[in-house]
Amino acid sequence: MFRFWIVFCLWVQVCAVVCINGCGTSSYVRKPFASHDLPIHHFPSPPGFNAPQQVHITQGDHEGRSMIISWVTPVQPTPNVVTYWEAANPNCIHKQAHAKTTYYRYYNYTSGYIHHATIRRLKYDTQYIYELGKHNETRRFSFTTPPQVGPDVPYTFGVIGDLGQTCDSNQTLEHYVANPKGKAVLFVGDLSYADDHPFHDNRRWDSWGRFVEKSTAYQPWIWTAGNHELDLAPEIGENTPFRPYLHRYYVPYKASQSTSPLWYSIKHASAYIIVLSSYSAYGKYTPQYNWLEQELPKVNRAETPWLIVLLHSPWYNSNNYHYMEGESMRVMFESWFVKHKVDLVFAGHVHSYERSKRISNVKYNITNGLSTPVCDASAPVYITIGDGGNVEGIANNFTEPQPSYSAFREASFGHAILELKNRTHAHYTWHRNHDGEAVAADSTWFYNRYWYPHDEDQLSSSTTMS
Ligand SMILES: [Fe+2]
Repeated sequence: MFRFWIVFCLWVQVCAVVCINGCGTSSYVRKPFASHDLPIHHFPSPPGFNAPQQVHITQGDHEGRSMIISWVTPVQPTPNVVTYWEAANPNCIHKQAHAKTTYYRYYNYTSGYIHHATIRRLKYDTQYIYELGKHNETRRFSFTTPPQVGPDVPYTFGVIGDLGQTCDSNQTLEHYVANPKGKAVLFVGDLSYADDHPFHDNRRWDSWGRFVEKSTAYQPWIWTAGNHELDLAPEIGENTPFRPYLHRYYVPYKASQSTSPLWYSIKHASAYIIVLSSYSAYGKYTPQYNWLEQELPKVNRAETPWLIVLLHSPWYNSNNYHYMEGESMRVMFESWFVKHKVDLVFAGHVHSYERSKRISNVKYNITNGLSTPVCDASAPVYITIGDGGNVEGIANNFTEPQPSYSAFREASFGHAILELKNRTHAHYTWHRNHDGEAVAADSTWFYNRYWYPHDEDQLSSSTTMS
């Protein structure tokens, strides 16, 4: 018996050491085959011939006192008004905001009327009720504004990427919705996967809008464009990139002096969030390059300690799928991220999950041979979370051996929860779909790079391997 306990204790110690240093490649094996998109009738329109549908909201200004309310009316362009009031004060005056209304054609498809109304001068951290439509087609929703920006304001984000509209997508979204912690979603691109259907069947953009409404109507989703938002199809006469996406998903890009909705920034509670476009020009002198160069020095870590970047194509990815596709953007911007001590970079694109150590690869200059990533306390953690569960299936072909920069990786679907506790600490969990939503398959503490730049690996990482 004594010998058994000796062996058991040694085994526990070995497991602890393994987990503290990152847990390698998970042994969890998920079914490798792709699932199909759910039939369009699985996402029915609400009753009524012109009832508002596909409702989604996002932050409408730089500070968090505005909200953009977006929706589609399928037949008539009116009413294009949102009525809103404070939930705690239903007898107060109900205010209204008028929408900008647009539509687009794509090959043989014509969209419904797409409305975007910006509600301004809202109170911080306040629940609002809003209504769309009229008479018996009226639909009511609610949202809560973020708290006033400040360095120790706690706030919790969900993180989702590459969602699509399959059974797996549905499981991911249901998991996220069932998790009561998330107050807003950082979405890292690839929304509907309409372009995987013949002629980019844009009815799939509509069905996706109806699918995600259960969350997007109630909390802001911070949008990032992925390659499936390009919808570039010269063979059918569609030569303008991002056209469906840009008509449907408005973001407050002008508030951060951006010249394009594909890259922008917002402040949200204690976070400064920068959204980049992997599929727009980012070489030197391009608008995105110039904007980011001026943007990073503006971040005041005394006001927003957590500097988070969202982009689609990961810079550090040890999967054979999309391997090194993010390399050219990394070469352009990584030294800036290290200089400005970016805390976290979330990416999608690769349909699996991976978390890196804090590493950088900025010394290389084409002749010195220093092209291996090294530990760097000023570098971000890179998280690839393109595991929403879309029609293209899982990316289950990791490179072997696992690179030293990769802390944990698993070929599964899921979502993450990022809890900003104060200016120094954030708790992070990743939830695989095949567990209950309360189970964390990967969890760690992140220490703020500006206020508390200590090494998390020495203390905090833990991962549940199945
Ligand atoms: Fe992608």
